[in-house]
Amino acid sequence: LGITYEIGPFRLNAAAKAVTHAGTPIALGPRAVAVLALLVESAQEYVPKARLMDEAWPGVIVEEANLGVQISAIRRALAQAPGGEYWIETLARRGYRFVGPVSKLPNKTPGDTVGTSPRSNLPEPLTSLVGRERELKELQKLLADHRLLTLTGAGGVGKTRLAMRIAATVIDSYSDGVWLVELAALSDPGLVPQTVTEVLALKEQQGKSLTERLTQYLRPKRLLLVLDNAEHLLAACARLTETVLRQCPQVTLLVTSRERLAVQGEQTYRVPSLSMPDPGLDISAQNLAQFESVQLFSERVRLHRPHFAVTDQNAPALASICRRLDGIPLAIELAAARGRSMSIEEVNQQLEHGFRVLTGGSRSALPRQQTLRALIDWSYDLLSDAEQALFRRLSVFAGGWTLSAAEQVCTDESVDKEAVLEHLTSLADKTLLVAEERDSVTRYRLLETVGHYARERLRERGGEAHWRDRHLAYFLALTLEAEPLLKGPDLEVGLDRLETEHDNLRLALDWAASGRGDSVTGLRIAAAIWWFWQTRGHLREGRQWLSRLLAAAPATEALAIRAKALRGAGALAREQADYAAAEALHRESLTLRRELGDQRGIALALGSLGAVALELGNYDAARKLEEESLAIQRELGDRASVAQVLNNLGEMARLQGDYATARARLEESLTIYRELGNQWGISTSVTNLGEVASAEGDFADALALLRKGLLIRRELGGQWGIALSLEGFARVALALGSPGRAARIWGHAERLREETGSPLPPSERGHYDRHIASARAAMSDDSAFDSAWHEGRAMTLEDAIGYALSVPDA
Ligand SMILES: Nc1ncnc2c1ncn2[C@@H]1O[C@H](COP(=O)(O)OP(=O)(O)OP(=O)(O)O)[C@@H](O)[C@H]1O
Ligand SMILES: [Mg+2]
Repeated sequence: LGITYEIGPFRLNAAAKAVTHAGTPIALGPRAVAVLALLVESAQEYVPKARLMDEAWPGVIVEEANLGVQISAIRRALAQAPGGEYWIETLARRGYRFVGPVSKLPNKTPGDTVGTSPRSNLPEPLTSLVGRERELKELQKLLADHRLLTLTGAGGVGKTRLAMRIAATVIDSYSDGVWLVELAALSDPGLVPQTVTEVLALKEQQGKSLTERLTQYLRPKRLLLVLDNAEHLLAACARLTETVLRQCPQVTLLVTSRERLAVQGEQTYRVPSLSMPDPGLDISAQNLAQFESVQLFSERVRLHRPHFAVTDQNAPALASICRRLDGIPLAIELAAARGRSMSIEEVNQQLEHGFRVLTGGSRSALPRQQTLRALIDWSYDLLSDAEQALFRRLSVFAGGWTLSAAEQVCTDESVDKEAVLEHLTSLADKTLLVAEERDSVTRYRLLETVGHYARERLRERGGEAHWRDRHLAYFLALTLEAEPLLKGPDLEVGLDRLETEHDNLRLALDWAASGRGDSVTGLRIAAAIWWFWQTRGHLREGRQWLSRLLAAAPATEALAIRAKALRGAGALAREQADYAAAEALHRESLTLRRELGDQRGIALALGSLGAVALELGNYDAARKLEEESLAIQRELGDRASVAQVLNNLGEMARLQGDYATARARLEESLTIYRELGNQWGISTSVTNLGEVASAEGDFADALALLRKGLLIRRELGGQWGIALSLEGFARVALALGSPGRAARIWGHAERLREETGSPLPPSERGHYDRHIASARAAMSDDSAFDSAWHEGRAMTLEDAIGYALSVPDA
């Protein structure tokens, strides 16, 4: 298996012959990669030229100059990292040596093939991990024996970092993967279960609390859940972990928190400081190098001063710094960042001076919290005015930000837009913020402790409200940009974008709903993203935001936005099967649209009311409403909406047994979807046509149509649609005299409906129950039916699809 090396911001995968820089592949030929791989494998040792040439040109004799060419290419590539051009040392006439930062990364997903769903969402850290070998060993043992392991310790001591690494190391022990839930940005304890369901991409389900939903999903799973930075949500995390421990026997929880959860069965592990030299130790360059705190300090200094080395001369100062900082990694990183513009001795003197002031002249050690605070103070004081201002303002984000967000939100005459990138880089260099890759986009965030500090500073200065307003305005713009994506082929892109910013969106909405920010802006955001809440299954939360904002915004202003928000709230209510509320909300929306003379809006409201009536089984009312809506849509020429309404009408006719009308409506809908190239629509129409054929007893046609629909849906993903298709196949199987086959397919469809949180609507219940009863009756006994059903549930999604598509054996 290919090993991946972490080389500063680079990753080298020797087997795949690939090198990436901050997540993006860099152009290095295979020979250069081979040379680099050998150098890195033998890091810190000289590698003779002959060996390198053997590696790059196996079995071929080449001129030495060729090797020189490869080495320069590699150096050019490495120079993208600060100091990277010095990472390969030349030993004149003999060979080369790699002296840059290297560590081996545990193999994340061996044998993962393209297309399988990812088994982890751990981010790739951009800096190397130092030491912690012993802790990793101990933790690995503890994790194998305990189902709840909490890493405790002071701020900045390295809990999060250690948890990520241990999680990455043990990934192969959890067949359902390792999932990181970041809680630092969350302020509402009520959202803890939801944040977990979000990470696992679970939808809500009617009549179930989120915790029930979560445990139902987790019960059969073998996975590791990492709850990071739980300290400010202890009670909520304790409640959740207790439930999971009790109900999901194969799930293991790894928590980081300044305090333990105090839950039964919890194993705590106090994360120690990095090892540091004892005061009595004979301090020479050689014996200092074994200490982790010294290594971390040197590595971080080397990011800026590649030639930095521990010498007998600077060793005493270095030892003193590490002791003073109590081996706290965050403090060490902050101090090391000063080491780019000062000698180690000077850093030490400054610390000594500063700490003496803090301890009132006594030489006794500062408490940890103060040590860290003093370090942050120090780093902050040394920033330029513009950097300080930007740093304070960045604390208005929750869950990180992108470069462009910082540019839009945090700038004014004192912080120049053009300079933001430079400032961010400088702040990251000083460890005041972290840059991370997520899906090849760089996101920045403040570490927990540092974020608190920045927020405090912003409040002290006043003006927090101004920056929160800017934050709100920015997220309105982002939302309006994402909204059109939600209606087209880039749906997933839009949804992911919103999901990434969910913490920021919550913060912005809360600001707007609290009466401090502009409530209409908040309402506008909520009205634009209800579809996100619906498709990603955040029904409860979406409805809460919409109703809070509908209440907060003045009822006589921004009526068009209000109408849109009402429609969103109504749709979410319908999805929750709260039909009375849904109808009331859509009616209110309809009234507003009529007042505004908004034809399109009227059509939408009528269509929505029709959908509610349909689910309640009020076919006559539903048909009337949909037809009225259809007439308006036709007039407006909105073809996608026309196709959709036709489809609804077709379904309605089918459920009422009027197959001729059903077919006519569905075929017209299909034609439009084909012209629009709307695959999702095509799959819906053909599947529904398949259902009509099946109802009429034309099973060959039915199978052909259902098959077409399922193939598209498999391509598009989306388990809910697949469940609908499978149910169609099951009915045909039953009709063709294979009740066992039908039971298997239904069984799997049921599981998909559970997993996506989309139960059967009441209008379909009757048919469904009747079909199942007759399948049951057709089998020799109940247990045969039940066991077929369970076989189907246990199939993988791919197998279930394959089984449905396969030709039935009579
Ligand atoms: N072993 C290590 N090697 C390299 N860097 C480390 C190590 N441990 C911690 N760090 C770095 O130190 C900083 C603080 O670490 P981390 O965020 O893990 O602390 P924490 O204990 O989770 O703090 P908080 O309580 O504020 O959440 C980070 O920049 C992290 O990358
Ligand atoms: Mg942490």
